[in-house]
Amino acid sequence: MVGITCYSSNDLLNWIYKGVALPVSEDENSDFVKGSVMERPKVIYNPKTEKYVMWFHLELKGKGYSAARAAVAVSNKITGPYTYIGSKRINLGQFPYNMPENIRNLNFNLQDFEKWWTPEWYKAVENGLFIKKDLNGGQMSRDMTLYVDDDGKAYHIYASEENLTLHIAELTDDFLNHTGKYVRVAPAGHNEAPTIFKRNGVYWMITSGCTGWDPNEARMFSSKSIWGPWKQHPNPCRGNKSEITFGGQGTFIQKIEGKEDAYLFMADIWRPKNPIDGRYAWLPIQFENDVPFIEWIDEWNFDFFN
Ligand code: GAL
Repeated sequence: MVGITCYSSNDLLNWIYKGVALPVSEDENSDFVKGSVMERPKVIYNPKTEKYVMWFHLELKGKGYSAARAAVAVSNKITGPYTYIGSKRINLGQFPYNMPENIRNLNFNLQDFEKWWTPEWYKAVENGLFIKKDLNGGQMSRDMTLYVDDDGKAYHIYASEENLTLHIAELTDDFLNHTGKYVRVAPAGHNEAPTIFKRNGVYWMITSGCTGWDPNEARMFSSKSIWGPWKQHPNPCRGNKSEITFGGQGTFIQKIEGKEDAYLFMADIWRPKNPIDGRYAWLPIQFENDVPFIEWIDEWNFDFFN
């Protein structure tokens, strides 16, 4: 394991290896020492600071998936080398900005909710059972993506609250920190692998369920505002193996520059026994009555979008 690597392409077909953008540390005291888990890196460009900002999910060496931190690094060049800034949990001491005062004031005893998935437990999660558990240490952050909106504001979207609930959190103007403003999507909905795009003023989010490296059925949400309310739709995938996202798990939605109305759903096909052998499934997003859907296509190219 060397760190986070970079590849470039001008057609999304042919790729050139650009080297290690953020090498792991050799210092055993560092949180991103070789052997730590670094997942789902995303890079966005900040025109104000003229810097590339990378966020990724970090788990501490030898600690399984318990740290649930987000890490940030910055570079003058997209290819790096990135300067590591640090890792942490998110929005310490902050409630979701739209959580009403009376709900904020409800107190729970975690021991009363050791049995998950009961109606009482659902209600408690909705009312911030896990937000409150982590209020003073910061909110958990595992699978994640970044999204830059048309107005230049950037958001960090991550699986929080024991992977039960997604958070959408606003980043500061330099993209290096969180402003403290965030909302939750589908409390206790067990969503991860968030991917997002915006089309005709509607935000679409495609996620997965939480079954580790095994593929499961994708989920889809939409909202007219990044702050919600987010509405859930049926599985966007259609056809054979649509109940397991064609064997993949979403990782990003790329808008295809130079084509109109063209969005690429990018999924990872994990090979946990030999991770380096993992594959990708990249499929065009199609629309029916303006609602996105994804179909398996054996072979395709960008003429598809014409
Ligand atoms: C998946 C998740 C991956 C990775 C994996 C570890 O569910 O999407 O990013 O964290 O679990 O088991």
